[in-house]
Amino acid sequence: MRDLKKTYGSGCKPEPAGKKKTYGSGYKPEPAGKKKTYGSGCKPEPAEENIKLFSEEDTINLAKAIAPELKVGDVVALYGELGTGKTFLTQWICRFLGVKEYTSSPSYVLMNEYIGKFPICHVDLYRLDSIDEVLELGIYEIFEKNLTIIEWAEKAKKLLPKNTIHIWFEFENSHRNVKVQSYKKLRLGESLPD
Ligand SMILES: Nc1ncnc2c1ncn2[C@@H]1O[C@H](COP(=O)(O)OP(=O)(O)OP(=O)(O)O)[C@@H](O)[C@H]1O
Ligand SMILES: [Mg+2]
Repeated sequence: MRDLKKTYGSGCKPEPAGKKKTYGSGYKPEPAGKKKTYGSGCKPEPAEENIKLFSEEDTINLAKAIAPELKVGDVVALYGELGTGKTFLTQWICRFLGVKEYTSSPSYVLMNEYIGKFPICHVDLYRLDSIDEVLELGIYEIFEKNLTIIEWAEKAKKLLPKNTIHIWFEFENSHRNVKVQSYKKLRLGESLPD
């Protein structure tokens, strides 16, 4: 098995509809006058997976696992120092989503738009310094109309939607460590070879 540590959030298991609640004889009704407080309801936690990537092929397999789960309106936020593989992953996600001509994005290009199965916008915030500059790109409209993949996403952290898929890259010895946090179940481990 590949070195893969899966941690899942607390999950959210609602009662099946129609399930009859039965109370044992020990059921004690709340005393009258006691103030009832209700939680905010069912709050699912994002799942986190940690993966080690030993080769470009592993990164390609990661892209292969993620791509089919993505759609317009989704945001993928990429973090990690120079050369960790953010553009490489983006390129392969685009390819798995049917982009035929991928033009490699140097950091001085802020945005590249692609048409695959649907519109994809690859944003690289490396050269931007402030949230205002990110807003000037029309980032909310970009989020709405595309699958958006953002490199150096920490520069737009406050603007990212709640259901953003976050992916952190870091170098370690001969491999790269990757942490993926997502509300979607991505089955990353199953896509990687043993
Ligand atoms: N898992 C991997 N193992 C080895 N090499 C890899 C792996 N993933 C990507 N690479 C290689 O790393 C190089 C740099 O990757 P990439 O340009 O995607 O980095 P980046 O994170 O986008 O950097 P920057 O912050 O400068 O934009 C690429 O040439 C790619 O081939
Ligand atoms: Mg890059």
